[in-house]
Amino acid sequence: MTAIPVEASTRAPVRGGGLRIEHVSKSFPLRGESLLVLDDISLSVEPGEFVAIVGGSGCGKSTLLRLLAGLDTDYQGTLLQDGEPIAGPRLERGLVFQDHRLFPWLTVEQNIAAAFTNTDVPPAERRARVAAEIARVGLDGFAGAYPHQLSGGMSQRAAIARALVGRPEVLLLDEPLGALDALTRLHMQKELRRLWLDEGITMLMVTHDIEEAVFLADRVVVLEARPGRVRRIQEVGLAHPRQRRDANFVALRDGLLADFGEVEEAR
Ligand SMILES: Nc1ncnc2c1ncn2[C@@H]1O[C@H](COP(=O)(O)OP(=O)(O)O)[C@@H](O)[C@H]1O
Ligand SMILES: [Mg+2]
Repeated sequence: MTAIPVEASTRAPVRGGGLRIEHVSKSFPLRGESLLVLDDISLSVEPGEFVAIVGGSGCGKSTLLRLLAGLDTDYQGTLLQDGEPIAGPRLERGLVFQDHRLFPWLTVEQNIAAAFTNTDVPPAERRARVAAEIARVGLDGFAGAYPHQLSGGMSQRAAIARALVGRPEVLLLDEPLGALDALTRLHMQKELRRLWLDEGITMLMVTHDIEEAVFLADRVVVLEARPGRVRRIQEVGLAHPRQRRDANFVALRDGLLADFGEVEEAR
């Protein structure tokens, strides 16, 4: 595993990818009634910002990400990317889910190239971009491998490569590291940070790991459940690379954990 000697000051220029969520509400039908899952959510994500969303299970985090991805267009309120309404999935908006959803019958290379389905990107350019993403996520030599031949971390890297091959301005990540073992997870957190710094990309990541949120994000949005609402937004404001044992880091983490009743009393 390579160290990642990056400082925030070396960050690549931001290309766009601002998100606006304005008074968004979402209900699902449930046994003849309507279950309100998101209740008047408003949140702006600045171009190039890294925002983490934390909250208990069932508070609507995935629902919100699906709306932002354009996968579900049945909601009240307004969703904009760089001022344009979000009306459906787009190559410029990359998506990474926890279970990474690689097609088991396709190789790594073919899985990544699948992002180009229904686009007019010419074949030669597709091949070049797929190869570049494979190299970037460190999967050289595995282009022809099938998902079952990869470790969890490698599969997740392939899923990230598939999201990146469209050169997105925004990456939407739904518990992307949730299925990984603890060590792989720490390593992939550094990779996400490197990607964010190198690409000037906007990232909106759902995680249930508060430390991960504080390690990566500029702001941490705490959602509360039933119905899903924004409880509070915590600025992080620590320089990268962040030190998990740093007193400011620990104080921010514990402050957020306290929101969930999960912090030990001071000894
Ligand atoms: N397609 C659906 N139909 C009905 N209810 C749904 C659907 N998707 C999610 N829900 C409900 O919406 C709530 C929020 O779900 P979700 O967004 O997956 O939460 P989270 O990702 O925060 O755990 C849950 O109560 C869930 O049961
Ligand atoms: Mg979820």
